[in-house]
Amino acid sequence: CPASVKKQLAKVFEESLRTTVPDEPDVVPSIDPCAANKAGVKFADYQCNNAMGLFAKMKGKQTGFKGPQAVGQAIRNNLPQSEMIESCSVAGPGFVNIVLSKKWIAQRLERLLIDGIDKWAPQLGVKTVLVDFSSPNIAKEMHVGHLRSTIIGDTLARMFEFSRVETLIRRNHLGDWGTQFGMLIAHLFDTYPNPEDFTEAAIGDLQAFYKASKVRFDNDPEFKLRAQQSVVQLQSGEEKYHNAWQQICDISKAEFEKVYQRLGVLLEARGESYYNDLIPPTLERLDKLGLIEEDDGARVIFVEGANIPIIAVKRDGGFNYSSTDLAALWYRLNVENVEWNIYVTDVGQWQHFDMVFKAFRRAGWLPNDENEFPKCTHVGFGLVLGEDGKRFRTRSSETVRLVELLDEAKRRCKASLLERDAVKDWSEEEIEKTAEAVGYGAVKYADLRINRLTNYTFSFDQMLNDKGNTAVYLQYAHARICSIMRKSGKDIEEIKKNGNIVLDHEDERALGLHLIQFPEVFEESLTNLLPNVLCEYLYNLTEIFTKKFYTNCQVVGSPEETSRLLLCEATVTVMRQCFHLLGIEPVYRL
Ligand code: ARG
Repeated sequence: CPASVKKQLAKVFEESLRTTVPDEPDVVPSIDPCAANKAGVKFADYQCNNAMGLFAKMKGKQTGFKGPQAVGQAIRNNLPQSEMIESCSVAGPGFVNIVLSKKWIAQRLERLLIDGIDKWAPQLGVKTVLVDFSSPNIAKEMHVGHLRSTIIGDTLARMFEFSRVETLIRRNHLGDWGTQFGMLIAHLFDTYPNPEDFTEAAIGDLQAFYKASKVRFDNDPEFKLRAQQSVVQLQSGEEKYHNAWQQICDISKAEFEKVYQRLGVLLEARGESYYNDLIPPTLERLDKLGLIEEDDGARVIFVEGANIPIIAVKRDGGFNYSSTDLAALWYRLNVENVEWNIYVTDVGQWQHFDMVFKAFRRAGWLPNDENEFPKCTHVGFGLVLGEDGKRFRTRSSETVRLVELLDEAKRRCKASLLERDAVKDWSEEEIEKTAEAVGYGAVKYADLRINRLTNYTFSFDQMLNDKGNTAVYLQYAHARICSIMRKSGKDIEEIKKNGNIVLDHEDERALGLHLIQFPEVFEESLTNLLPNVLCEYLYNLTEIFTKKFYTNCQVVGSPEETSRLLLCEATVTVMRQCFHLLGIEPVYRL
């Protein structure tokens, strides 16, 4: 049976619909959680919305139903016996309002505590998923856009992992190929005649090295010529040039790795260079299918709905970003057998991916129905803005170094920790670890909590505020619940085994209901590839716990202590799962 309450209810209603409208066998139960009205009141937990549509559809047929309310009544009356449902009533034009049994809610929570939250993971029905994310460019800056891609992509990967996708590929499509290597190599040979001297320590700053070589390239014709010749040498596999390229890549990758390590992000690198030899055969296959045309000296592919074609081969005979993505996608579909290919980049690249996917559809390499597997999805995101509303930059330099940005988040968290009395007895290590967990978590959550398609304003003050919708607030709430449980002096593992959960108080019930809704919210968040849905759920959970349950229901020392401690345990279990999916390290005391 599915973990989602919504889906379980749908099963119950499906039975009723079959009896109620036997002539409409295709009708799918439409079940939604009830929204609160303006006064914040909810009349029920869920509602079934089928009556109105069904009545309209059956109009003119001899069904005997006088109106949509009558259909609603019949749906209600034909419901099979179910332990999930406490009561049902028909409201308005025919909504069937459903109140869940609080005993059933409590049982689900007890099972959660015994079986663990993994049992709540949905089955997606896909075996192999690839998330192409982060993907910075060698020697160029890894900018805040790449940070967004890294954070969003990592969360999506974690969500697929939780859903137990058999093979999950976290792919770093590094920009490690292209004409910029010509000038980098030429500049390298000039600056370090002895290749051994070219080390990470010696260079310090690869971005500055890139910039210096670019200045020469733009201003010195002799250098430019040598740079162009170097590209040819590199592409023809000349050892000296290949080694220099490798050296540059290694230094750059080590830089990226520092960011990934801090963020706790796993990636498997397979750069653009990997697909080099696959480009000609891929283009040949496309050519055989008649997709490649000549256009002003270039070889291009036209696709529907785009006024520019994909440039598969440039006028000078060279390949580009698109050629590589064509080959890479072919490889992913045919060699890696990926069923769901996800690309996480800024929205600006939407058209590029749209055209690549369309070319594959034209070739018959992807199904025409975009929702059918194998499928490709571009997960776009908006810009990162500074507090001035312009593109995010630091005061001193035009580019933001990601490592420094993370340092700053940590530094600020550490400073505010040190102001607190509570940390007097903490070890230096605990302070460091906590500052990192809270600081890095805050950067991630600030990004993930808003719909990824919107631009996002980067503000330390906002993301580190302990009162708003921030990871800091969530961490405090989590640590507080842990402290309540510690203070009880009870062995939670022991009471988990025999204790019962009772949801007699309305705030206990509200908390319990929200907790068992985790599976369906998670599923919604994952199928739409929208982490902000999960963030909103987590924030609401925290609010319900703090503002309702904990305000109105005494835990320690109350007659309901056992049940309420179990509710606390269920809450931290779900909170930690959300933290984990969002890549946030939970803090147990603060
Ligand atoms: N390197 C690219 C950039 O920085 C992103 C690559 C995205 N992945 C892909 N398969 N094209 O914009």
